[in-house]
Amino acid sequence: MKKVTMKFLPNQPLEFHKVKIVQKSYLLSPEKRFKAITKAGNNTFLLKSEDVFLDMLTDSGTNAMSDEQLAASMTADDAYAGSKTYYKLEEKLTELFGLPYFLPAHQGRACEHLIAKALVKPGMRVPMNYHFTTTKAHILAQGGIVDELIIAEGLNLVSDHPFKGNMDLAKLKKHFKSHSVKDIAFVRMEAGTNLIGGQPFALENAKEVTKLCQKYGAISVLDASLLQDNLYFIKAKESGETEKTIKEITKELCSLFDIVYFSARKFGFARGGGILLKDKKLLDVMKEFVILYEGFLTYGGMSTKEMEAIRVGIDESMEDDVISQGPEFIKYMAETLLKFNVPVVTPPGGLGCHLDARSFLPHVPSNQYPAGSLAVALYLISGIRGMERGTMSEQRESDGSERIADVELLRLAIPRRTFTLSQINYAIDRIVWLYNHRELVGGLKFVKEPNILRFFFGELTPISDWQTKLIATFKKDFKTSF
Ligand code: F0G
Repeated sequence: MKKVTMKFLPNQPLEFHKVKIVQKSYLLSPEKRFKAITKAGNNTFLLKSEDVFLDMLTDSGTNAMSDEQLAASMTADDAYAGSKTYYKLEEKLTELFGLPYFLPAHQGRACEHLIAKALVKPGMRVPMNYHFTTTKAHILAQGGIVDELIIAEGLNLVSDHPFKGNMDLAKLKKHFKSHSVKDIAFVRMEAGTNLIGGQPFALENAKEVTKLCQKYGAISVLDASLLQDNLYFIKAKESGETEKTIKEITKELCSLFDIVYFSARKFGFARGGGILLKDKKLLDVMKEFVILYEGFLTYGGMSTKEMEAIRVGIDESMEDDVISQGPEFIKYMAETLLKFNVPVVTPPGGLGCHLDARSFLPHVPSNQYPAGSLAVALYLISGIRGMERGTMSEQRESDGSERIADVELLRLAIPRRTFTLSQINYAIDRIVWLYNHRELVGGLKFVKEPNILRFFFGELTPISDWQTKLIATFKKDFKTSF
């Protein structure tokens, strides 16, 4: 991997792009932030973007596009059917991923909807390394059951295991032995495992998983939404892979699977999604769902401008000095926070820097949503918006009881090519202050709680008046109106 090292600042990552267009962002006063988050029901999803200084909610649709992507989008062929743009995208993706068929969809969860609709029948099981929120919701909506078979180390937040997203092969074998294959809808591997801190799996593990699927006759599915970071880690850390190009690894990995789907909001620096398939029969089944739910087969709900941007963006993301940007900025942020004893998920993964909210706020019980509380506290003292990835992101059990998440994380996403190093340093500075005043942060409770994917639009209230005390202490310490 091409790497520029600095002599006097050896751990500083370096941006490999220059800024040509900027968007102004505003840093509100703590009082205005308090008003904004109260209005948003103490849910960072409900904040207005204009009230946010650094938007670390997600990398979804927020990666910066390049001049080449924007130029390509001006050449888009806006035909409803048979668009030239579609065929160029199909050619690029089938070539890169090594699967023969492509179906477009408007984003990642739309792919999950189509796959679940085609393959999951009530009572069927879907073993996977780990669930993602929208994936699980679509499987449950079809009456399916999710079985998580991540290696034990995957849930260990402090670790030096390079591939915490690996599937536990012994558990997968046992799963195949204890369930008839006709009851297994498919086996799913998620690249850059989102909910456990953007942790990758090894190419070797994917080979073993897909070998078992073939042996037992089960369909294998790769969620490639976070593949970009996973590819970086395979090349950087897996023995035998460092000499291969990212494109070689991509083809070798993806062509192991029967189905590969992705959110182009993450992978490809644009907005959209798609499914690649090996099997013509399955293609024909899913085609009908594309027409019904997404759009015609040559756009699937995407704008042709975005399709052009994906084609160019996915190619760009495979360049060494582009693919390394996310993981290297995340590593810098995590390692600097560790120097100040802030609990972060290790090893640092992809997607963002993940704070371990259970260790950060040991006095806030899981049913008062420590990661959600930490997200609100950080916004109050910095204007930074992160995303709760813990118990709030779970769905209640069918008896209404709270399902306590395995891990309770505040994710601070680092969208690719978007933030500068001084902005990352600002985030570090405020997080360290918050950690040193962590006893001031209290819990939250729901006042409006939707049944499905409640974290997106549920509303909460603080359990005590901890927020006003936090702001008062912050103002005394920083003596600033920001
Ligand atoms: N799979 C994974 C691993 C994801 O991270 C996401 C989205 C999806 C599927 C769904 O894709 O948003 O295009 O419908 N993750 C976003 C996030 C929402 O912020 O982590 P989508």
